[in-house]
Amino acid sequence: MESCVIEITEAAKKHGNLNVACCGKSFFPEDAIGGATKAESANPITIVASGLVEPVKTDIPSDGKTGRPRWIFRDRKWVREFVASNNLNPGDNVTIARLGGRSYSVQPTDKRTGFPVTVPRSKLFHRTKLGRIYLGDSLAVLNKQLAPGSVDLIVTSPPFGLVRKKDYGNVDADKYVEWFKPFGNLFLRLLKPTGSLIVDMGGSWNPGFPTRSLYHYELLLTLCNECGFHLAQEFFWWNPSKLPTPAEWVTVRRIRVKDAVNFVWWLSRTPWPKASNRRVLSPYSIAMRDLLKNGYKAKLRPSGHDISEKFSTDNKAAIPPNLIAVANTESNSYYLRYCKEKGLSPHPARFPSEIPEYFIRMLTDPGDLVVDPFAGSCVAGEVAQRLKRRWICVDTVEEYLEGAIARFRREDTLFPLPKSRDLSNSYYKIYHPGANWNCEPDVVLPSDGGSARAKRSKNLK
Ligand SMILES: C[S@@+](CC[C@H](N)C(=O)[O-])C[C@H]1O[C@@H](n2cnc3c(N)ncnc32)[C@H](O)[C@@H]1O
Repeated sequence: MESCVIEITEAAKKHGNLNVACCGKSFFPEDAIGGATKAESANPITIVASGLVEPVKTDIPSDGKTGRPRWIFRDRKWVREFVASNNLNPGDNVTIARLGGRSYSVQPTDKRTGFPVTVPRSKLFHRTKLGRIYLGDSLAVLNKQLAPGSVDLIVTSPPFGLVRKKDYGNVDADKYVEWFKPFGNLFLRLLKPTGSLIVDMGGSWNPGFPTRSLYHYELLLTLCNECGFHLAQEFFWWNPSKLPTPAEWVTVRRIRVKDAVNFVWWLSRTPWPKASNRRVLSPYSIAMRDLLKNGYKAKLRPSGHDISEKFSTDNKAAIPPNLIAVANTESNSYYLRYCKEKGLSPHPARFPSEIPEYFIRMLTDPGDLVVDPFAGSCVAGEVAQRLKRRWICVDTVEEYLEGAIARFRREDTLFPLPKSRDLSNSYYKIYHPGANWNCEPDVVLPSDGGSARAKRSKNLK
Protein backbone atom coordinates (compact mmCIF):
# COMPACT_ATOMS: atom_id res chain seq x y z
CA MET A 1 0.00 0.00 0.00
CA GLU A 2 1.32 3.43 -0.92
CA SER A 3 1.79 5.60 2.16
CA CYS A 4 3.68 8.59 3.50
CA VAL A 5 4.60 9.83 6.97
CA ILE A 6 3.79 13.41 7.95
CA GLU A 7 4.93 15.34 11.00
CA ILE A 8 2.34 17.08 13.13
CA THR A 9 3.19 20.77 13.41
CA GLU A 10 1.85 23.56 15.60
CA ALA A 11 -0.19 24.70 12.56
CA ALA A 12 -1.74 21.24 12.19
CA LYS A 13 -2.70 21.14 15.86
CA LYS A 14 -4.02 24.70 16.01
CA HIS A 15 -5.46 25.29 12.55
CA GLY A 16 -5.76 21.83 10.97
CA ASN A 17 -3.08 22.59 8.36
CA LEU A 18 -1.76 19.08 7.70
CA ASN A 19 1.08 19.57 5.21
CA VAL A 20 0.88 16.69 2.71
CA ALA A 21 3.45 18.08 0.24
CA CYS A 22 5.91 15.30 1.12
CA CYS A 23 3.46 12.68 -0.20
CA GLY A 24 4.36 13.70 -3.76
CA LYS A 25 2.23 15.02 -6.63
CA SER A 26 0.96 11.66 -7.78
CA PHE A 27 -0.24 10.50 -4.31
CA PHE A 28 -3.60 12.29 -4.70
CA PRO A 29 -5.72 12.18 -7.90
CA GLU A 30 -5.20 15.22 -10.10
CA ASP A 31 -8.90 16.01 -10.10
CA ALA A 32 -8.84 16.30 -6.27
CA ILE A 33 -6.99 19.65 -6.59
CA GLY A 34 -9.50 22.48 -6.56
CA GLY A 35 -9.42 26.25 -6.82
CA ALA A 36 -8.81 28.78 -4.06
CA THR A 37 -12.42 29.20 -2.94
CA LYS A 38 -14.95 26.72 -1.66
CA ALA A 39 -17.06 27.32 -4.74
CA GLU A 40 -14.14 26.00 -6.80
CA SER A 41 -13.91 22.73 -4.83
CA ALA A 42 -12.75 19.69 -6.78
CA ASN A 43 -13.84 16.07 -6.82
CA PRO A 44 -13.29 15.07 -3.13
CA ILE A 45 -11.27 12.18 -1.77
CA THR A 46 -12.51 10.16 1.24
CA ILE A 47 -10.40 9.99 4.38
CA VAL A 48 -10.96 7.49 7.17
CA ALA A 49 -9.13 8.94 10.18
CA SER A 50 -8.68 6.85 13.32
CA GLY A 51 -10.63 8.21 16.26
CA LEU A 52 -13.26 9.93 14.09
CA VAL A 53 -16.75 8.53 13.74
CA GLU A 54 -17.48 9.55 10.15
CA PRO A 55 -15.24 9.35 7.06
CA VAL A 56 -14.29 12.82 5.79
CA LYS A 57 -14.73 14.11 2.24
CA THR A 58 -12.38 16.88 1.19
CA ASP A 59 -10.21 18.20 -1.65
CA ILE A 60 -6.93 20.13 -1.81
CA PRO A 61 -7.24 23.87 -2.53
CA SER A 62 -4.86 25.94 -4.69
CA ASP A 63 -3.27 29.26 -3.89
CA GLY A 64 -5.35 32.21 -5.18
CA LYS A 65 -2.26 34.10 -6.40
CA THR A 66 0.09 31.45 -7.77
CA GLY A 67 -2.56 28.87 -8.74
CA ARG A 68 -0.31 26.12 -7.24
CA PRO A 69 -1.73 23.43 -4.90
CA ARG A 70 -1.44 24.43 -1.23
CA TRP A 71 -0.93 20.76 -0.16
CA ILE A 72 -3.21 21.00 2.83
CA PHE A 73 -6.80 19.74 3.00
CA ARG A 74 -9.58 22.24 2.40
CA ASP A 75 -11.66 20.83 5.27
CA ARG A 76 -9.41 21.32 8.30
CA LYS A 77 -11.80 20.88 11.21
CA TRP A 78 -11.45 17.09 11.11
CA VAL A 79 -7.63 17.40 11.31
CA ARG A 80 -7.94 19.25 14.63
CA GLU A 81 -10.38 16.62 15.91
CA PHE A 82 -8.09 13.81 14.73
CA VAL A 83 -5.06 15.41 16.43
CA ALA A 84 -7.02 15.88 19.67
CA SER A 85 -8.69 12.50 19.80
CA ASN A 86 -5.36 10.71 19.21
CA ASN A 87 -3.50 12.90 21.74
CA LEU A 88 -1.00 14.04 19.09
CA ASN A 89 1.49 16.85 19.66
CA PRO A 90 3.87 18.78 17.42
CA GLY A 91 6.73 16.42 16.54
CA ASP A 92 4.51 13.29 16.46
CA ASN A 93 4.10 11.53 13.13
CA VAL A 94 1.04 10.27 11.30
CA THR A 95 0.82 7.87 8.39
CA ILE A 96 -1.48 8.60 5.47
CA ALA A 97 -2.10 5.58 3.26
CA ARG A 98 -3.93 5.13 -0.05
CA LEU A 99 -6.49 2.37 0.49
CA GLY A 100 -7.47 2.23 -3.19
CA GLY A 101 -9.52 4.43 -5.54
CA ARG A 102 -10.15 7.78 -3.87
CA SER A 103 -9.99 6.41 -0.30
CA TYR A 104 -7.24 7.16 2.21
CA SER A 105 -6.62 6.36 5.87
CA VAL A 106 -4.84 8.55 8.43
CA GLN A 107 -3.39 6.98 11.56
CA PRO A 108 -0.87 8.01 14.22
CA THR A 109 2.56 6.47 13.65
CA ASP A 110 4.09 4.39 16.43
CA LYS A 111 7.24 6.22 17.62
CA ARG A 112 9.04 2.96 18.39
CA THR A 113 8.30 0.91 15.27
CA GLY A 114 7.61 3.63 12.72
CA PHE A 115 4.48 1.68 11.67
CA PRO A 116 0.95 3.07 11.92
CA VAL A 117 -0.60 2.42 15.31
CA THR A 118 -3.08 -0.17 14.28
CA VAL A 119 -6.43 -0.19 15.96
CA PRO A 120 -7.23 -3.88 16.33
CA ARG A 121 -9.49 -5.03 13.53
CA SER A 122 -12.87 -5.59 15.07
CA LYS A 123 -14.16 -9.09 15.33
CA LEU A 124 -17.06 -10.86 16.94
CA PHE A 125 -15.36 -12.47 19.93
CA HIS A 126 -18.18 -14.34 21.66
CA ARG A 127 -21.94 -14.57 21.51
CA THR A 128 -24.81 -15.81 23.65
CA LYS A 129 -28.52 -16.00 22.91
CA LEU A 130 -28.90 -12.42 24.09
CA GLY A 131 -25.56 -10.74 23.61
CA ARG A 132 -22.36 -10.24 21.67
CA ILE A 133 -18.80 -9.34 22.65
CA TYR A 134 -16.67 -7.55 20.06
CA LEU A 135 -12.91 -7.09 20.12
CA GLY A 136 -12.07 -3.69 18.66
CA ASP A 137 -12.38 0.06 19.00
CA SER A 138 -15.91 0.80 20.11
CA LEU A 139 -16.13 3.85 17.83
CA ALA A 140 -15.64 1.63 14.79
CA VAL A 141 -17.55 -1.40 16.10
CA LEU A 142 -20.68 0.40 17.31
CA ASN A 143 -20.80 2.64 14.28
CA LYS A 144 -20.81 -0.44 12.08
CA GLN A 145 -23.00 -2.78 14.13
CA LEU A 146 -25.75 -0.50 15.41
CA ALA A 147 -28.36 1.65 13.73
CA PRO A 148 -28.95 5.21 15.01
CA GLY A 149 -31.70 5.30 17.64
CA SER A 150 -31.46 1.59 18.44
CA VAL A 151 -30.00 1.49 21.97
CA ASP A 152 -31.92 1.74 25.25
CA LEU A 153 -29.00 2.09 27.65
CA ILE A 154 -25.26 2.65 27.40
CA VAL A 155 -23.75 1.86 30.79
CA THR A 156 -20.01 2.11 31.09
CA SER A 157 -16.94 2.88 33.08
CA PRO A 158 -14.52 4.45 30.59
CA PRO A 159 -10.77 4.57 31.09
CA PHE A 160 -10.27 7.42 33.57
CA GLY A 161 -7.88 10.32 33.15
CA LEU A 162 -5.84 9.09 36.07
CA VAL A 163 -2.64 10.67 37.10
CA ARG A 164 -1.22 7.26 37.89
CA LYS A 165 -1.50 5.18 34.72
CA LYS A 166 -3.25 1.85 34.68
CA ASP A 167 -2.13 -1.06 32.54
CA TYR A 168 -4.61 -0.29 29.82
CA GLY A 169 -3.19 3.08 28.79
CA ASN A 170 -5.33 5.90 30.16
CA VAL A 171 -5.49 9.24 28.44
CA ASP A 172 -4.06 12.20 30.43
CA ALA A 173 -6.66 14.19 32.36
CA ASP A 174 -6.29 17.41 30.32
CA LYS A 175 -6.72 15.66 26.97
CA TYR A 176 -9.48 13.44 28.23
CA VAL A 177 -12.46 15.50 27.16
CA GLU A 178 -11.21 15.88 23.58
CA TRP A 179 -10.61 12.15 23.44
CA PHE A 180 -14.10 11.38 24.73
CA LYS A 181 -16.05 13.79 22.53
CA PRO A 182 -16.31 11.53 19.43
CA PHE A 183 -17.66 8.77 21.70
CA GLY A 184 -20.19 11.21 23.19
CA ASN A 185 -21.42 12.18 19.72
CA LEU A 186 -21.74 8.55 18.69
CA PHE A 187 -23.53 7.53 21.90
CA LEU A 188 -26.11 10.29 21.45
CA ARG A 189 -26.78 9.15 17.89
CA LEU A 190 -27.17 5.49 18.89
CA LEU A 191 -29.61 6.09 21.76
CA LYS A 192 -33.39 5.94 21.40
CA PRO A 193 -35.16 9.17 22.43
CA THR A 194 -36.08 7.34 25.66
CA GLY A 195 -32.54 6.06 26.15
CA SER A 196 -29.91 6.85 28.78
CA LEU A 197 -26.14 7.00 29.08
CA ILE A 198 -24.55 6.10 32.42
CA VAL A 199 -20.90 7.07 32.84
CA ASP A 200 -19.04 5.98 35.98
CA MET A 201 -15.94 8.13 36.55
CA GLY A 202 -13.34 8.28 39.27
CA GLY A 203 -11.93 11.62 40.28
CA SER A 204 -8.29 12.51 39.75
CA TRP A 205 -5.61 14.66 41.46
CA ASN A 206 -3.45 17.27 39.78
CA PRO A 207 0.10 15.88 39.57
CA GLY A 208 2.26 17.11 42.48
CA PHE A 209 -0.53 19.12 44.19
CA PRO A 210 -3.21 18.35 46.73
CA THR A 211 -5.85 19.71 44.35
CA ARG A 212 -8.40 17.96 42.20
CA SER A 213 -8.55 17.76 38.44
CA LEU A 214 -11.79 19.10 37.00
CA TYR A 215 -11.81 16.68 34.09
CA HIS A 216 -14.93 14.77 35.11
CA TYR A 217 -16.88 18.03 35.44
CA GLU A 218 -15.46 19.24 32.12
CA LEU A 219 -16.57 16.00 30.52
CA LEU A 220 -20.07 16.43 31.94
CA LEU A 221 -20.29 20.00 30.62
CA THR A 222 -19.02 18.95 27.20
CA LEU A 223 -21.44 16.03 26.97
CA CYS A 224 -24.33 18.38 27.77
CA ASN A 225 -23.27 21.65 26.11
CA GLU A 226 -21.54 20.30 23.01
CA CYS A 227 -22.83 16.77 22.36
CA GLY A 228 -26.44 17.57 23.34
CA PHE A 229 -27.12 15.30 26.32
CA HIS A 230 -29.38 16.23 29.24
CA LEU A 231 -28.21 15.62 32.80
CA ALA A 232 -31.04 13.48 34.19
CA GLN A 233 -29.35 13.16 37.58
CA GLU A 234 -25.92 12.79 39.12
CA PHE A 235 -25.21 9.81 41.35
CA PHE A 236 -22.35 9.10 43.72
CA TRP A 237 -20.99 5.62 44.19
CA TRP A 238 -19.52 5.34 47.68
CA ASN A 239 -16.99 2.54 47.88
CA PRO A 240 -16.45 1.94 51.63
CA SER A 241 -13.43 -0.25 50.88
CA LYS A 242 -11.46 2.45 49.04
CA LEU A 243 -7.90 2.91 50.27
CA PRO A 244 -6.81 6.28 51.72
CA THR A 245 -5.02 7.68 48.66
CA PRO A 246 -3.11 9.68 47.51
CA ALA A 247 -1.07 8.65 50.57
CA GLU A 248 1.08 11.81 50.44
CA TRP A 249 -1.91 14.11 51.06
CA VAL A 250 -4.12 11.78 53.08
CA THR A 251 -1.95 9.63 55.34
CA VAL A 252 1.43 11.41 55.32
CA ARG A 253 0.68 15.16 55.41
CA ARG A 254 -2.92 14.62 56.63
CA ILE A 255 -4.24 17.62 54.69
CA ARG A 256 -6.97 15.86 52.68
CA VAL A 257 -9.50 13.16 53.52
CA LYS A 258 -10.06 9.78 51.91
CA ASP A 259 -11.51 10.05 48.42
CA ALA A 260 -14.21 7.39 48.48
CA VAL A 261 -16.84 8.29 45.87
CA ASN A 262 -17.03 7.90 42.12
CA PHE A 263 -19.19 10.19 40.03
CA VAL A 264 -21.91 8.49 38.05
CA TRP A 265 -23.45 10.79 35.46
CA TRP A 266 -26.93 9.78 34.28
CA LEU A 267 -27.41 11.49 30.94
CA SER A 268 -30.25 11.20 28.49
CA ARG A 269 -31.01 12.01 24.88
CA THR A 270 -34.20 13.86 25.78
CA PRO A 271 -35.43 15.27 29.11
CA TRP A 272 -37.75 12.24 29.34
CA PRO A 273 -35.71 9.02 29.43
CA LYS A 274 -37.77 6.02 30.48
CA ALA A 275 -37.15 5.31 34.17
CA SER A 276 -38.80 4.20 37.35
CA ASN A 277 -37.39 4.48 40.87
CA ARG A 278 -39.85 1.70 41.85
CA ARG A 279 -37.31 -0.73 40.35
CA VAL A 280 -34.56 0.24 42.81
CA LEU A 281 -36.38 0.68 46.12
CA SER A 282 -34.49 -0.07 49.30
CA PRO A 283 -35.67 -1.38 52.68
CA TYR A 284 -36.90 1.23 55.16
CA SER A 285 -34.32 2.52 57.64
CA ILE A 286 -34.74 1.52 61.31
CA ALA A 287 -35.84 5.10 62.11
CA MET A 288 -38.51 4.98 59.40
CA ARG A 289 -39.73 1.57 60.55
CA ASP A 290 -40.06 2.96 64.11
CA LEU A 291 -41.92 5.94 62.77
CA LEU A 292 -44.35 3.74 60.86
CA LYS A 293 -44.88 1.63 63.97
CA ASN A 294 -45.30 4.49 66.42
CA GLY A 295 -47.11 6.92 64.14
CA TYR A 296 -46.18 10.39 62.90
CA LYS A 297 -47.68 13.79 63.60
CA ALA A 298 -48.04 15.92 60.46
CA LYS A 299 -46.25 19.24 60.90
CA LEU A 300 -44.40 22.03 59.13
CA ARG A 301 -40.64 21.38 59.15
CA PRO A 302 -38.26 24.28 60.01
CA SER A 303 -37.16 24.08 56.34
CA GLY A 304 -40.72 25.05 55.35
CA HIS A 305 -41.58 21.58 54.01
CA ASP A 306 -45.08 20.57 54.93
CA ILE A 307 -44.83 16.91 55.97
CA SER A 308 -48.35 15.58 55.63
CA GLU A 309 -50.04 12.48 57.08
CA LYS A 310 -49.11 10.67 53.86
CA PHE A 311 -45.56 10.51 55.18
CA SER A 312 -46.63 7.76 57.54
CA THR A 313 -48.10 5.55 54.80
CA ASP A 314 -46.27 2.24 54.69
CA ASN A 315 -45.17 1.79 51.07
CA LYS A 316 -43.16 -1.31 52.07
CA ALA A 317 -39.90 0.14 50.77
CA ALA A 318 -38.02 3.42 50.55
CA ILE A 319 -37.04 5.57 47.61
CA PRO A 320 -33.23 5.44 47.61
CA PRO A 321 -30.98 8.50 47.62
CA ASN A 322 -28.58 9.25 44.76
CA LEU A 323 -25.79 7.69 46.79
CA ILE A 324 -25.05 4.06 45.97
CA ALA A 325 -23.01 2.24 48.61
CA VAL A 326 -21.13 -0.81 47.33
CA ALA A 327 -17.72 -2.09 48.39
CA ASN A 328 -15.65 -3.22 45.44
CA THR A 329 -14.24 -6.33 47.06
CA GLU A 330 -14.88 -9.26 44.70
CA SER A 331 -12.44 -11.96 45.78
CA ASN A 332 -13.74 -15.43 44.98
CA SER A 333 -15.95 -15.17 41.93
CA TYR A 334 -16.09 -17.70 39.14
CA TYR A 335 -14.56 -15.00 36.91
CA LEU A 336 -11.48 -14.65 39.15
CA ARG A 337 -11.07 -18.41 39.52
CA TYR A 338 -11.34 -18.84 35.74
CA CYS A 339 -8.69 -16.15 35.09
CA LYS A 340 -6.32 -17.84 37.56
CA GLU A 341 -6.91 -21.26 36.02
CA LYS A 342 -6.18 -19.93 32.51
CA GLY A 343 -3.22 -17.74 33.53
CA LEU A 344 -5.07 -14.55 32.51
CA SER A 345 -4.69 -11.25 34.37
CA PRO A 346 -8.06 -10.26 35.82
CA HIS A 347 -9.19 -6.84 34.66
CA PRO A 348 -7.59 -4.25 37.01
CA ALA A 349 -10.54 -1.81 37.16
CA ARG A 350 -13.77 -3.75 37.28
CA PHE A 351 -16.89 -2.13 38.66
CA PRO A 352 -19.06 -4.16 41.04
CA SER A 353 -22.05 -5.74 39.29
CA GLU A 354 -24.45 -3.67 41.44
CA ILE A 355 -23.51 -0.48 39.57
CA PRO A 356 -24.69 -1.58 36.10
CA GLU A 357 -27.49 -3.64 37.70
CA TYR A 358 -28.97 -0.58 39.42
CA PHE A 359 -29.28 1.32 36.16
CA ILE A 360 -30.25 -1.65 33.97
CA ARG A 361 -33.12 -2.32 36.36
CA MET A 362 -34.19 1.31 36.68
CA LEU A 363 -33.88 2.29 33.01
CA THR A 364 -34.61 -0.76 30.85
CA ASP A 365 -37.15 -3.54 30.34
CA PRO A 366 -36.42 -7.18 29.48
CA GLY A 367 -35.57 -7.43 25.78
CA ASP A 368 -34.11 -3.89 25.64
CA LEU A 369 -30.64 -3.32 24.24
CA VAL A 370 -27.83 -2.48 26.71
CA VAL A 371 -24.34 -1.53 25.46
CA ASP A 372 -21.00 -1.25 27.29
CA PRO A 373 -18.51 0.37 24.89
CA PHE A 374 -15.56 0.10 27.35
CA ALA A 375 -16.50 -3.32 28.61
CA GLY A 376 -13.28 -4.70 30.14
CA SER A 377 -14.37 -7.96 31.74
CA CYS A 378 -18.02 -7.50 30.61
CA VAL A 379 -19.62 -7.11 34.04
CA ALA A 380 -22.42 -5.09 32.40
CA GLY A 381 -22.94 -7.84 29.82
CA GLU A 382 -23.21 -10.46 32.55
CA VAL A 383 -25.82 -8.45 34.44
CA ALA A 384 -27.79 -7.74 31.26
CA GLN A 385 -27.76 -11.43 30.35
CA ARG A 386 -29.08 -12.42 33.78
CA LEU A 387 -31.79 -9.75 33.65
CA LYS A 388 -32.81 -10.90 30.15
CA ARG A 389 -31.81 -7.77 28.29
CA ARG A 390 -30.05 -7.94 24.92
CA TRP A 391 -26.51 -6.62 25.16
CA ILE A 392 -23.29 -5.68 23.33
CA CYS A 393 -19.85 -5.35 24.95
CA VAL A 394 -16.74 -3.97 23.22
CA ASP A 395 -13.12 -3.78 24.35
CA THR A 396 -9.79 -3.34 22.58
CA VAL A 397 -7.84 -5.75 24.78
CA GLU A 398 -8.12 -9.41 23.86
CA GLU A 399 -6.89 -10.73 27.21
CA TYR A 400 -9.69 -8.95 29.06
CA LEU A 401 -12.26 -10.51 26.76
CA GLU A 402 -10.72 -13.97 27.12
CA GLY A 403 -11.41 -13.63 30.86
CA ALA A 404 -14.85 -12.11 30.23
CA ILE A 405 -15.98 -15.29 28.47
CA ALA A 406 -16.01 -17.00 31.88
CA ARG A 407 -19.09 -14.95 32.70
CA PHE A 408 -21.09 -16.63 29.91
CA ARG A 409 -19.72 -20.16 29.77
CA ARG A 410 -22.75 -21.69 31.39
CA GLU A 411 -25.91 -20.05 32.65
CA ASP A 412 -25.12 -21.28 36.17
CA THR A 413 -21.84 -19.33 36.24
CA LEU A 414 -23.84 -16.11 36.20
CA PHE A 415 -23.97 -14.85 39.76
CA PRO A 416 -27.26 -15.83 41.38
CA LEU A 417 -29.89 -13.50 42.75
CA PRO A 418 -30.18 -13.73 46.55
CA LYS A 419 -32.94 -16.19 47.41
CA SER A 420 -34.13 -14.59 50.64
CA ARG A 421 -34.04 -11.04 51.82
CA ASP A 422 -31.30 -11.20 54.43
CA LEU A 423 -30.71 -7.58 55.39
CA SER A 424 -28.06 -8.24 58.03
CA ASN A 425 -25.17 -7.81 55.60
CA SER A 426 -26.84 -5.41 53.21
CA TYR A 427 -25.90 -2.06 54.69
CA TYR A 428 -22.81 -0.02 55.43
CA LYS A 429 -22.54 2.30 58.39
CA ILE A 430 -20.93 5.71 58.36
CA TYR A 431 -20.55 7.86 61.46
CA HIS A 432 -22.19 11.21 61.94
CA PRO A 433 -19.38 13.77 61.37
CA GLY A 434 -19.69 15.00 64.95
CA ALA A 435 -19.20 11.59 66.55
CA ASN A 436 -15.59 12.39 67.48
CA TRP A 437 -15.79 16.16 67.87
CA ASN A 438 -14.46 17.41 71.20
CA CYS A 439 -13.03 13.95 71.94
CA GLU A 440 -9.62 14.62 70.38
CA PRO A 441 -7.36 17.60 71.10
CA ASP A 442 -7.18 20.04 68.17
CA VAL A 443 -3.90 19.99 66.25
CA VAL A 444 -2.34 23.21 64.97
CA LEU A 445 -3.10 23.72 61.29
CA PRO A 446 -0.01 24.02 59.07
CA SER A 447 0.24 27.70 58.13
CA ASP A 448 1.80 26.78 54.75
CA GLY A 449 -1.13 24.50 53.88
CA GLY A 450 1.19 21.52 54.26
CA SER A 451 3.45 22.43 51.34
CA ALA A 452 6.53 21.55 53.40
CA ARG A 453 6.47 18.03 54.77
CA ALA A 454 6.18 18.43 58.54
CA LYS A 455 8.26 16.28 60.84
CA ARG A 456 6.02 13.83 62.59
CA SER A 457 5.48 14.74 66.23
CA LYS A 458 5.48 11.84 68.67
CA ASN A 459 2.24 13.13 70.17
CA LEU A 460 0.32 12.99 66.91
CA LYS A 461 -1.45 9.91 65.68
C1 LIG B 1 -12.38 1.05 33.40
S1 LIG B 1 -12.20 -0.22 32.22
C2 LIG B 1 -13.78 -0.97 32.19
C3 LIG B 1 -13.93 -2.09 33.19
C4 LIG B 1 -15.30 -2.75 33.16
N1 LIG B 1 -16.34 -1.87 33.60
C5 LIG B 1 -15.32 -4.00 34.04
O1 LIG B 1 -15.99 -3.97 35.07
O2 LIG B 1 -14.61 -4.96 33.75
C6 LIG B 1 -12.11 0.60 30.69
C7 LIG B 1 -11.88 -0.32 29.49
O3 LIG B 1 -11.99 0.44 28.29
C8 LIG B 1 -11.21 -0.22 27.28
N2 LIG B 1 -11.04 0.71 26.16
C9 LIG B 1 -10.25 1.82 26.08
N3 LIG B 1 -10.40 2.43 24.88
C10 LIG B 1 -11.32 1.69 24.18
C11 LIG B 1 -11.91 1.81 22.90
N4 LIG B 1 -11.59 2.81 22.09
N5 LIG B 1 -12.82 0.88 22.52
C12 LIG B 1 -13.15 -0.14 23.35
N6 LIG B 1 -12.62 -0.30 24.58
C13 LIG B 1 -11.72 0.60 24.99
C14 LIG B 1 -9.94 -0.61 28.05
O4 LIG B 1 -9.27 -1.67 27.42
C15 LIG B 1 -10.51 -0.99 29.43
O5 LIG B 1 -10.68 -2.40 29.53
